[in-house]
Amino acid sequence: MPRHLKPLKRALAVAAVALAAVSLQPGSAQADHIHSGSARATARTADPSPGVVGGTRATQGEFPWMVRLSMGCGGALYTQQIVLTAAHCVDGSGPDTSITAITGDVDLKGAKAVSTRSTDVLQAPGYNGKGKDWALVRLAKPVNQPTLKIADTTAQNNGEFTIAGWGADREGGRQQRYLLKAKVPFVDDATCKKAYGNQLTPGDEICAGYIDKGGVDTCQGDSGGPMFRKDAAGGWIQVGIVSWGQGCAEPGYPGVYTEVSTFAADIKKAAKGLGG
Ligand code: ARG
Repeated sequence: MPRHLKPLKRALAVAAVALAAVSLQPGSAQADHIHSGSARATARTADPSPGVVGGTRATQGEFPWMVRLSMGCGGALYTQQIVLTAAHCVDGSGPDTSITAITGDVDLKGAKAVSTRSTDVLQAPGYNGKGKDWALVRLAKPVNQPTLKIADTTAQNNGEFTIAGWGADREGGRQQRYLLKAKVPFVDDATCKKAYGNQLTPGDEICAGYIDKGGVDTCQGDSGGPMFRKDAAGGWIQVGIVSWGQGCAEPGYPGVYTEVSTFAADIKKAAKGLGG
């Protein structure tokens, strides 16, 4: 994963705390999620950050297209048999029966949780760790859940977004058993570039978070999961894929998401190719 070398180098200069910071690693090794509190505050005090607005539990059936993948990532049902996730969550393209997808329950150990194996993986063509962070996982059989529509224009790339996942609930924290959700505002490219400079690929990526106060964000283990909002017709539409960020919920460092509208045509074509 060449991607996190640069950010890491940068973080070294800042502090040892920041070492685990900017990373594209899926959540199995590290962890976090819809985090609460600035990383700095969390690192300096044993207490989990005072007065923060982190995630809350999603209710059963609220986001029925949410998927938990066994490598420690999130995803969303693009079709009932194809999961849209992040390129950095998978190893490459081709037949692959090693991934298990859990759907159907906010509780990963719940009675409604259904496990389905993968058959194939398609990683974004040309993915090299910078931008293009999307991939498809084809499942052995269709899942009986609604799908999440993806944005194919930039019309929805603004406003307030919802994020959800089973990743860690704070920087360096553990993966969650119950699905968490939170809301984060859109951050424009110019503002996001101030945080990340050339690490950001503006056409491929869309940022979100509370720039000033931090405190709400996705985190390790949420990667591949959707960032979404309501469209004009009142239905959910996916605008982002959890990709990376410096730490989690740190003030000044928004979360970076794959800009789904940029890749909508590619995703559609790739899904057709997977025949599902
Ligand atoms: N790369 C992480 C993962 O694999 C997601 C990190 C998101 N970070 C953030 N600050 N929004 O799960």
